[in-house]
Amino acid sequence: MEKFAKLIIDGQEIALPVIEGSEGEMAIDIRELRQQSGYITFDPGYGNTGSCRSSITYMDGEKGILRYRGIPIEQLAESSTFVETAFLLITGKLPTREELTRTSVSLNDFSPIHENMKAFYQNYPPKAHPMGILSAMINAMRSFYPELIDREEELNKTYLRIISKIRTMAAMAYKISIGQKVIYPRPDLCYCSNFLNMMFDSVVVRYHIDDELVRALNVFWILHADHEQNCSTTAVRVVGSGKVNIYSTISAGISALWGPLHGGANQAVIHMLERIERDGMSVEKCIARAKDKDDDFRLMGFGHRVYKTYDPRAKIMKDMCDIVLKKVKVKDPLLDIARRLEEAALTDPYFREKHLYPNVDFYSGIVLRAMGIPTKMFTVMFAIGRLPGWIAQWKEYWNDPEMKISRPRQVYTGNTLNEYVPIDQRKEEVSIC
Ligand code: SDX
Repeated sequence: MEKFAKLIIDGQEIALPVIEGSEGEMAIDIRELRQQSGYITFDPGYGNTGSCRSSITYMDGEKGILRYRGIPIEQLAESSTFVETAFLLITGKLPTREELTRTSVSLNDFSPIHENMKAFYQNYPPKAHPMGILSAMINAMRSFYPELIDREEELNKTYLRIISKIRTMAAMAYKISIGQKVIYPRPDLCYCSNFLNMMFDSVVVRYHIDDELVRALNVFWILHADHEQNCSTTAVRVVGSGKVNIYSTISAGISALWGPLHGGANQAVIHMLERIERDGMSVEKCIARAKDKDDDFRLMGFGHRVYKTYDPRAKIMKDMCDIVLKKVKVKDPLLDIARRLEEAALTDPYFREKHLYPNVDFYSGIVLRAMGIPTKMFTVMFAIGRLPGWIAQWKEYWNDPEMKISRPRQVYTGNTLNEYVPIDQRKEEVSIC
């Protein structure tokens, strides 16, 4: 039986349908609200607004649950690979052995980039941030692969083309930034090994591919693969809703991920920990500054719009720190600072009352450092991991009959009706230059 929510506005009763999700999430369908009442809703940052129905990822922020297509993130991190998880997110099912093999072969076939794209890299200043390069290079793919992609098999090839080439583009940006010869993808290596080899192999010192580090990279990218309607995924859905091609849509997602409040937090966490180590800041001082509204210092890697308990990905990432650091026989002082910060924050009333816990970014930088990934590449690593999620969400958008171009409303607070004043009659009130 259909459920309704009743609103009484200016004495008029309005009945709005209630939508229930497969995990019991309830939503009020307000699509008729303005037509029935002239009112709109108001929700800056969309903290309480559902933008779509989705069957890709389920999160329970109170219980710390994260599942891709119903499979718990813990099981995928334990038993899956990044390519298999990408297949699951995009198609909705785990691949058979044959499907996985075909996918891996296609990813290898697509891994080189068009030679003419290399010229783009030559003209960037040496200190160009790799996220800006990556966003531009993915956008440029539209010019190199202009075929109209509206048939299923063409679209699947396009998904694999982007997932494969994003690694090559990312590694190329790194190699060129350090003045080293670009290492090409090898057909004999799997997805993650190929990336590490393109990053760290060189004509001087051959890179030794370590299975444990390859496993850690698979888990790192599995943990980042999707996260329902976060900022960058919403950007992908909004940009895609205007019928923009998938390359430019993904490029918009990369740009949206870049900021320190979102995917850029993993880089910001390391800068914060380095600053604490360099300045000899006590943990107590950090916690006090993070709580001080007049201080712009924030505990980066802490807090989350949805998780009001420990981010399940952060737990796995924290365990990975020990595994990877033990493997590379490195003791990272930043890990010790991170652990002491976490301990202090989790027992502090401010953090507990505001439900501020470590999120995926708090420990991920330590894992990446241990793998030898430079800090500037951390958010690029997040983008490579999130790509299958963006593709799955873009695909779901286009197959959803309810979807149409994104166009929110506003509450106007500017001047009411005003007159144009000829320039000679204007009085100097406020100077803008
Ligand atoms: C990601 O959405 C996703 O799913 C994102 C992500 C994904 O996989 O796509 O999970 C990836 O982006 C993780 C988040 C990475 N960002 C950071 O770690 C940056 C630090 N965290 C904060 O900036 C903040 O917690 C956000 C941005 C993550 C969430 O912001 P919200 O939900 O808008 O919460 P808010 O800023 O309104 O904070 C609520 C209160 C405020 O205090 P009051 O105004 O109520 O007094 O908590 C305080 C904030 O000041 N607060 C913090 C804090 N985070 C929130 N205080 C100190 N340190 C922090 N980190």
